[in-house]
Amino acid sequence: MTRTPDEFPPFGPGRHLLSVQQLDSGLLSQIFELAELVDPIAAGTVRCTVLDGAVLGSLFFEPSTRTRLSFESAFLRLGGEVTTTTGFTFSSMAKGESIHDTSRVVSGYSDVMVVRHPDKGSVAEFAEASVVPVINAGDGDGEHPSQALLDLYTLTRELEARGKTIDGATVAIVGDLKYGRTVHSLMKLLTLASGITFRLFSPPSLELPLEIENYVAERGHRIIECDSAGDAVSGADAVYATRVQRERMTEEVLATANVSGNLLNRQILHDAGSEDIVIMHPLPRDSRHDSFDLSADVDDLPGLSIFHQTDNGLRIRMAIFLVAMGCSAEAVKAATK
Ligand code: CP
Repeated sequence: MTRTPDEFPPFGPGRHLLSVQQLDSGLLSQIFELAELVDPIAAGTVRCTVLDGAVLGSLFFEPSTRTRLSFESAFLRLGGEVTTTTGFTFSSMAKGESIHDTSRVVSGYSDVMVVRHPDKGSVAEFAEASVVPVINAGDGDGEHPSQALLDLYTLTRELEARGKTIDGATVAIVGDLKYGRTVHSLMKLLTLASGITFRLFSPPSLELPLEIENYVAERGHRIIECDSAGDAVSGADAVYATRVQRERMTEEVLATANVSGNLLNRQILHDAGSEDIVIMHPLPRDSRHDSFDLSADVDDLPGLSIFHQTDNGLRIRMAIFLVAMGCSAEAVKAATK
């Protein structure tokens, strides 16, 4: 029987990263320090060969732009090579091959694997069969640990730039809190800070799962349910908005949620007195008409941090590979010129 992601041991050299529950404060510091160290390598101003000869197996069975490309760029920037397959159609899973067999085979060709799959718990199944570390790049409505790491890294930096700390922060989280796996991972990861107040708003049927609510409350953090996105952002230091994950819900749930128009826009922030708030979103933003998402009319506000998140994603994913591959800061420095 496959273990649940949180039943795996703490992340580290040679270990899988499936859930943020495998992280602690020490690991967070290590990953964030490595992310700072690799900054010039990520920017392409210096070259690093620390992963010379290593191969990444990149398996994405769901659409992705930033997670796949930033994981792959991260490995290339560290001197490694990448082998990739996207979608079920172009792998032998289309011929009925199991997760177990696929994972065992590809892990024999790779030194580390990154996997995205539409089913919650499926990446843990890959990990059970793999002979190399597996990084969860999103498993259905389960978790997305690398996204949570880059989100927390960005949020911490944005707050520090404003003379604030993550400890004691008030964070509004608005949108689809039920199916948004980035929300689940981020809220759990934020419990490693102290005294977080979460101000939550979601449409009917898209509420935060009780499991996440309990996890946060048991660790001494506060959750305030709000009636609107405007109410949620009022008095908050930052807002994290998410799109409606239409691909994960039935037509019935979508009808009950009754989502249309803007989730969050400039007017709502203005009316709440929150135009200078830190604005985050895991992306993609649904730019189609009536998509119930973060409006592009906030894009020139000073707190817009969505592209800081995407840029930081490269650095954080480089750091994740360094930890999984057992590469120290000294090894990175020695292999950089
Ligand atoms: N945030 C995120 O996971 O984006 P992609 O789906 O484009 O990878």
